[in-house]
Amino acid sequence: MTPNEGTSAAQDLISAFERLTAEFAAEIASLSSEQDMRAVQARYLGKKGKATELMKGLGRLAPADRPAVGESANRARAAIEQAVQSRLHDLAGADLAADLERKIDVTLPGRGRRAGTLHPLTRVRLEIEQIFHGMGFEVRTGPWIETEWNNFDALNTPADHPARDMQDTFYVEGGFILRSHTSPVQIRTMLAGPPPVKIIAPGNVFRRDDDATHTPMFPQCEGLHVDRNVSFEDLKATLIAFVQRFFGPDTQIRLRPSFFPFTEPSAEVDASCFLCEGKQPARSTCRLCKGTGWLEIGGSGMVHPNVLAAVGYDKYDVTGFAFGMGLSRMAMLKYGVSDLRLFYENDLRFLRQFPTS
Ligand code: DAH
Repeated sequence: MTPNEGTSAAQDLISAFERLTAEFAAEIASLSSEQDMRAVQARYLGKKGKATELMKGLGRLAPADRPAVGESANRARAAIEQAVQSRLHDLAGADLAADLERKIDVTLPGRGRRAGTLHPLTRVRLEIEQIFHGMGFEVRTGPWIETEWNNFDALNTPADHPARDMQDTFYVEGGFILRSHTSPVQIRTMLAGPPPVKIIAPGNVFRRDDDATHTPMFPQCEGLHVDRNVSFEDLKATLIAFVQRFFGPDTQIRLRPSFFPFTEPSAEVDASCFLCEGKQPARSTCRLCKGTGWLEIGGSGMVHPNVLAAVGYDKYDVTGFAFGMGLSRMAMLKYGVSDLRLFYENDLRFLRQFPTS
């Protein structure tokens, strides 16, 4: 090998490094992300990259020629990194220019994000839970698919009671039913432990009903308080405290004698109309109470001794009261909703009228 040959081989390598730099610059000129540029850079400078390939030629050079080639390799490396930096710089400049070019009217109103609201039936349920919780009631729930025993037998409802009719109750496979009221949660709670028991049980119930004033599924809330010396007076005081918190501090109640298999005595519960307050002349045209001055809100009574016995409680030792109310009815009364079906159509124009505070 003559010195000349060596020199020209070195020269070739030096030119190759220069071409590499130019080639790289051309390749990244069309790229706009740093990630893409770095990927290309790796193909040039990485372990198996083009520069590394060229460096293999170094060993064949005369030792005297090597420093110059090594230097050109370093220059190529630096130039490639420099090309990336300068391309990134140009791109950032272009972005900034584009931002500045765009005309933004900061005086336009913002595009607000509308928050969701709670469904009125959910609001009513939460409010009822809160009121009873404040009076020492625990919230319990039970399954929608129930045994006939929990839903009827244990509640002292005879086998030939009309509510058990296939026309009224949904029967499902395996001898089960869809619960027709929340009262079976009374049974489940008492079976689960000894007295005292002080619970409310909100939840959906099912009946074979579907018209303007009935939906096949609707929410109820049950109440049960069993202990020594629980009296009818306690029932009345509890209901008064509840309606006064729910409808307003001047609300009164009226108990009308009634019948339920699971309570004795039993009473229908009416709350005084909070809209006309039962006073004439407003009362005569009141759309809420329809001129009666009273709003029906549910049923109630003293737990029948047969129910206490069915769950193994000592009917001579403890007494209890129970009540049940329809949550859709409570929501209709409270918010002045005239058609039950509005609760289930999920029309946003309706639902948005119940802002979540
Ligand atoms: N379960 C009854 C119904 O669905 C409502 C009811 C009435 C529940 C009286 C009670 C009660 O706990 O004592 O119509």
